[in-house]
Amino acid sequence: MEAETRYLTFALTKGRLAKQTLELFEKVGITCEEMKDTGSRKLIFVNEELKLKFFLAKGPDVPTYVEYGAADIGVVGRDTIMEEGRKLYEVLDLGFGRCRMCVCGPESARGLLKSQERIRVATKYPHIAKDYFYNQKNQTVEIIKLNGSIELAPIVGLSEVIVDIVETGSTLRENGLVVLEEVCPLSARVVVNPVSMRMENERITQLLTKLNICMQEE
Ligand code: PRP
Repeated sequence: MEAETRYLTFALTKGRLAKQTLELFEKVGITCEEMKDTGSRKLIFVNEELKLKFFLAKGPDVPTYVEYGAADIGVVGRDTIMEEGRKLYEVLDLGFGRCRMCVCGPESARGLLKSQERIRVATKYPHIAKDYFYNQKNQTVEIIKLNGSIELAPIVGLSEVIVDIVETGSTLRENGLVVLEEVCPLSARVVVNPVSMRMENERITQLLTKLNICMQEE
C-alpha cells in the first residue's frame, strides 16, 4: 500500500507579500480558494487535492514557524530573515517586495558616518544595524530599538540616524531626510525548514522549479 502523502505547510507573511505570493502560486497551479474570502477569521487554509496547508503570520514570526518545522516553507522579506537569524534554508528570490535597507538621516548627519563618532541609531532592525555598524563599518554606535515610524527619531532628536527600509523614498522626502548609505537590497524570499528539505525534497524541488520557470517567463 502506498504511504499517504503528508501535507506541506506554508507560512505566508500577512498583507501585501501574501497577496503577491498567492498570485504567483496561482500561476503555477497552486490555488487556495478558501484564502480568498477576506471576511473570514479562519487562520489555516487547506487544499485537499494537492495536500497543502497555508497560514498567515506576522513577518517576524514566519522564520520561527519554519525553523521549528510548524511550517515546511515560508515566504518572507529578506530583512526579516536577516534580523531573525533562524536556522533555515533561503532557497529562492521571488523578485517582488523589492526595497533597500539603508542608513538615513538629515544631510547634516553624513559626516558623522565618516568619523568614528559614537552616534545613536534608531531602528526596528537592531541585529542588522549592529552587524552593519560593528562588523562592516567598524563604528561603535548606540542602537535604539523602535517599533515603527522610525523616521521620527532623527526629527525629534532621539537619534542622529536610522536604519530602515526605503521603498519609494517618499517617507524620507516628506520628512526632510535622505539616504546616507545603503546596507543591502531586499525582496521576498522563500525559506525552507532543513528537515523538510530532506524529507520532502522531490515535492519542494518541483515547486521551486515551477516558480523559477514562471518568474523567468514574466
Ligand atoms: C516602512 C519603512 C518606512 C517606509 C518606507 O514603514 O519603515 O517608514 O515604509 O517606504 P517608502 O520609501 O515607500 O516611503 P511601514 O509603512 O511598513 O510602517 P512602520 O513605519 O510602522 O514600520
